Amino acid sequence: MKILGIDIGGSGIKAAIVNTENGELLTERHRIKTPKPATPNTVSKVVKKMIKYFDWKGAVGCCFPTIIVDGQCKHHGNLSKEWLGVKVNEIFEKECEENPFYISNDADLAGIAEINLGAGKEVKGKVIVITLGTGIGSGLFYDGKLIPNLELGHIYHTNGEIIEKFAADSTRKRENLSLEEWAKRLDIFLRHVKILHTPTMYILGGGISKKYNEFKNHLTVDVPIEVAKFKNNAGIIGAAIFASKKGEK
Ligand code: BGC
Repeated sequence: MKILGIDIGGSGIKAAIVNTENGELLTERHRIKTPKPATPNTVSKVVKKMIKYFDWKGAVGCCFPTIIVDGQCKHHGNLSKEWLGVKVNEIFEKECEENPFYISNDADLAGIAEINLGAGKEVKGKVIVITLGTGIGSGLFYDGKLIPNLELGHIYHTNGEIIEKFAADSTRKRENLSLEEWAKRLDIFLRHVKILHTPTMYILGGGISKKYNEFKNHLTVDVPIEVAKFKNNAGIIGAAIFASKKGEK
């Protein structure tokens, strides 16, 4: 099936048409900067631009960078506070008129791509997908089944500050950390999560996962780590797979 997948992130909104059987992108990925402030109104306008850009008439799968339950936003995350309580699919459907939207958390959807077709395929037990970008996303899978809305980036680190603020890739950029300095922070996070969850495997995604070979020597956590097969496109691909499955029901 061909589906348009959109990944709404804290810094960029990315989309492509995806073959949901094999995860292949059937078009170039198109990226538009996330508007500032990223309110329901400004983000909906960008989503509409994407639909027009791809001249897309069908269903759309969409990653959202915070907690989503049945299409509804339960936390504003790194976007505007106006998102709280918003039914994301409904406002996008209103803006775009012709397209049904299927929305879920970005890390959960990146995980769906990796579990179905990528690094986590046929892996038994507990797999935790960690996406490293503006925030830290986490997707929990048990024997291939998603347990949605795990929010490991919100674990407290120091003085009530969440660990995402200490170890996200955006922190590396903002604080000008070397890869080694940042990887040591990531390691603290991964070691702590190991105590909490005893995962069978970690899958690391997000743009920085492309540099895994340059920072892996600074990770001491005793859990097998794989890099997301679909790298930064995992969200777009997972969103499309999610929409194809929901659309069948
Ligand atoms: C949010 C998560 C999201 C992650 C990556 C975090 O700030 O709480 O829901 O998955 O950022 O976008």
